Amino acid sequence: MEHKKMNAFPKSFLWGSASAAYQVEGAWDEDQKGVSVWDEFVNIPGKTFKGTTGEVAVDHYHRYKEDVALMAEQGLKAYRFSIAWTRIIPDGDGEINEAGLKFYENLIDELLAHHIEPVVTLYHWDLPKALQDKYKGWESRQIVADFTRYAEVLFDRFRGKVKFWVTLNEQNVFISHGYLQGSHPPDVQDPKRMYQANHYANLANAAAIKKFREMEMDGLIGPSFAYSPTYAIDSNPVNVLAADDHEELQANFWMDVYVYGRYPKVIWKWLEDQGIAPEVEADDFVLLREGKPDFMGVNYYQTSTVSANPLNGVGMGKPNTTGEKGSSEANGVPGIFKDEQNPFVERTNWDWEIDPTGMRIALRRITSRYDLPVLITENGLGEYDTLEEDGAIHDAYRIDYLKQHVEAIQEAITDGVEVLGYCTWSYTDLLSWLNGYQKRYGFVYVDRDELDEKELKRYKKDSYYWYQKVIESNGENL
Ligand code: BG6
Repeated sequence: MEHKKMNAFPKSFLWGSASAAYQVEGAWDEDQKGVSVWDEFVNIPGKTFKGTTGEVAVDHYHRYKEDVALMAEQGLKAYRFSIAWTRIIPDGDGEINEAGLKFYENLIDELLAHHIEPVVTLYHWDLPKALQDKYKGWESRQIVADFTRYAEVLFDRFRGKVKFWVTLNEQNVFISHGYLQGSHPPDVQDPKRMYQANHYANLANAAAIKKFREMEMDGLIGPSFAYSPTYAIDSNPVNVLAADDHEELQANFWMDVYVYGRYPKVIWKWLEDQGIAPEVEADDFVLLREGKPDFMGVNYYQTSTVSANPLNGVGMGKPNTTGEKGSSEANGVPGIFKDEQNPFVERTNWDWEIDPTGMRIALRRITSRYDLPVLITENGLGEYDTLEEDGAIHDAYRIDYLKQHVEAIQEAITDGVEVLGYCTWSYTDLLSWLNGYQKRYGFVYVDRDELDEKELKRYKKDSYYWYQKVIESNGENL
């Protein structure tokens, strides 16, 4: 629908930006930090682009004050970052490491001193390796208790300071990449194991939220879900059915559990027919219902367009991690759907579709189905940037991308969606897990590349100044 007049952004709107521990911190073995599964995985030859690691990353661990000063100058209202479990409890379930807590306390205090709201993600993929070795990490029910204890330590320490908490970042991504595609640790390709690990992740998410309630924490908590709303390639009913299946399997399958504590029936039946349904206990569903979030965190980058796929049709294909446009392989689930290129949208050099209207659709679908406020926890453009001789970075393409997405959010607010805030991905440039350092997302350029860390100097991109004006005008000046 078209609106005659747009609603303004609420006064309390959190204009933010985001990062994750492994992608920015570096200092991978400092101050008694334990080893995570990512610390290990990146050192397996061939796993990441040009063998890149986050061992130094963009050295945020040592430069956080400089980074926060840049945020303050820009006027940022919120900064979303993740805490590395291995800094807090190095072996996952043992002693608490005061030095790790202190680092995040300093960061949080620095943000608060500059009136920047900390948005803390408990888990952004860097599982303690000790738990992987001990009981196979997410494949054991034991993870639920250990994750809850870790969450409790953080709730306890940062009570009163942190008001926004994100439980698991993109459970749908770390579980499917870790246990189906084998492109993330623990490098497994087994759907049965995937759905079992996923079930325990659901329980861990719910148990952490339940703990938050029991501790009467002042604030809001929810998961961050990587949501790519589905379109059918055309109105052929078989393709519309494939799109329905895709939405059920790739979106409702996770978000229904978060909000309603149950799996969608069609998908559960399909999992049972395939012999890959997880083993569950009756009490699990009681816990899942007790873990209803306060908001749905959404990481929105693109939509998915699909068509029907026969039983002997296309299977899993590799994504483009090189930045060579058009190099992603055909991908699908035989008997259900296959991915199509949407002819109406542009693509990035990494073949990600650029679809701001999809953002509005994502926000509306969540509101209709779940009736929860939404916190946009990630959205942004990964592209090549050029550092000019005078230190400028002219990223007009990023401004264009962000501007269109902010407009789509305003449309959604005018449609009646409650949006708490918008965290762009990312604040500084950072390590893109599988794509190295050349795929840049930040407002702040960090001068390093795959092979050379250089001096990791920070430079403000044109988009930095653009967002500064957006924040200053509360979204009126785009
Ligand atoms: C999300 C993650 O999947 O997308 C981030 O939460 C990630 O950690 C971002 O960096 C962009 O993905 P990529 O693969 O381009 O780094």
